[in-house]
Amino acid sequence: MVQLTPESSTPESAAAVEPEPIVYLNGEFLALSQAKVSVLDRGFLFGDGVYEVIPVYGGKPLRPDEHLDRLQRSMNRISMAEPLTRQEWKAVFQDLLDKNPGADRSIYLQVTRGAAPLRDLSIDDDIRPTVFIMVNAIKSIDYAKLEAGIEAIIVEDFRWKACDIKSVSLIANVMVRLHANQSSVVDAIMVRDGLVTEATASNVFVVHKGVISTPPNSQYLLPGITRDLVIELARSNGFELLERDIQGDELETADEVWLTSSTREIAPVVRINQQPVGDGVAGDCWKKIIALYKEYKQALRHG
Ligand code: PDD
Repeated sequence: MVQLTPESSTPESAAAVEPEPIVYLNGEFLALSQAKVSVLDRGFLFGDGVYEVIPVYGGKPLRPDEHLDRLQRSMNRISMAEPLTRQEWKAVFQDLLDKNPGADRSIYLQVTRGAAPLRDLSIDDDIRPTVFIMVNAIKSIDYAKLEAGIEAIIVEDFRWKACDIKSVSLIANVMVRLHANQSSVVDAIMVRDGLVTEATASNVFVVHKGVISTPPNSQYLLPGITRDLVIELARSNGFELLERDIQGDELETADEVWLTSSTREIAPVVRINQQPVGDGVAGDCWKKIIALYKEYKQALRHG
């Protein structure tokens, strides 16, 4: 039997237990363990729902309108009406941030089509969406670690032709990520019909002779909010940045390759398919862009 030592039962150690997160579910604020969804929810049965991940720095969401615009587009694409107005979303975000204090956090929000009385692909007219929002701590990025870079493999993109929808149906992304992890690398960059699309949860940039390129938005990739911010920061600071088709084999000849996302920020990829990218270390262009990104975050924190 496990004996409790006197130390482990002191009020100090009890106080160190993290409070349970408060989440939002269908109009209510609840302790995470109290938030329950029906097993007939179409999100659970069919992956019939969409989501967003919004980083929060110094209590301020980064580009909330851009994330909510994308949510609106995702919902339009799956023929769902938005359950909350723009103002209501923002008010719930603020309430949740207040109820879950902390340093850097992210807001995860998910809307599914809801629970119907029967499992049926056809949509019941009376169905009401399930709205779930939670706040997670973001481990603040260790920039020295980030600079060490990550290793990736290239895989065929076998996903559907609606990757611009931020769908909760992520089974293909999970399969590709698993394949990467089983190959002892962090991620996979996907190529469809010879062209680079994106990684499993981030967008892709390549740098060749100082020119930065990223694939154009299309039905084959998610229009990343970080991607747009990187484009903006690069262009407004005098970098040449092209949105253009990128051939898969350019990944092997590029001087630099980066992956961007809300949680990963801008990660240099230093090895692809076991070969070094450029010199096999984070490049000069990445160093300049990540500095601009950090500045942007700082301005948001203190603005
Ligand atoms: N993923 N592409 C895919 C497939 C993604 O899932 C994501 C984000 C991105 C980058 O988008 P943004 O810059 O807006 O984060 C690109 C989030 C972080 C996730 O699923 O957790």
